[in-house]
Amino acid sequence: MHVLIAYYSWQGHTAKVAQALAAVLGAEMVRIEPLSESGILVKAAKAMLGLKSAIRPCRVDLAGVDHLVIASPVWAQKVPPYVNEYLFQVTGGAGKPFSVLVEMRASGAGSATRIIRTALEKKGMHFVASASTLENQVENGTFGDRITALAEAIRKG
Ligand SMILES: Cc1cc2nc3c(=O)[nH]c(=O)nc-3n(C[C@H](O)[C@H](O)[C@H](O)COP(=O)(O)O)c2cc1C
Repeated sequence: MHVLIAYYSWQGHTAKVAQALAAVLGAEMVRIEPLSESGILVKAAKAMLGLKSAIRPCRVDLAGVDHLVIASPVWAQKVPPYVNEYLFQVTGGAGKPFSVLVEMRASGAGSATRIIRTALEKKGMHFVASASTLENQVENGTFGDRITALAEAIRKG
């Protein structure tokens, strides 16, 4: 099964969790990268308003992909504008399964997951599973159980 993990990470936590999941599943990873940086207030405001921000060209076509995972930090109880842009650009997903991994300091996993889920379901994809991790679990290296459970759900489809 070819799993594609598309992830955005500003400060490295989401990247670490996404890499751990990729290692378990033997997945391909694609990093969602902003075209240009902005200050934290602009980042937070754009996330809060559900806006998109330009990203560098990256793999958005799901040809040959059997399962898509979106891995994102929670920003303002939502997702970063770069993740909104990726969700907007992704193509070829109709009929395919997807899962969601969100990373946060304390709260907002439910609303962030819902945003990703709604965007991909609108493209005809179907939700399989989600998981969330906490910043301190990533820093302590204690998020392994969550990754194992998510990987298991993804394998089962
Ligand atoms: C603009 C901004 C908004 C954030 N909003 C939230 C939030 O609503 N809830 C939360 O638990 N953490 C929030 N955080 C914390 C991040 O989700 C957390 O630090 C996460 O580990 C960052 O992932 P990264 O290291 O991959 O960038 C926010 C961080 C930033 C920069």
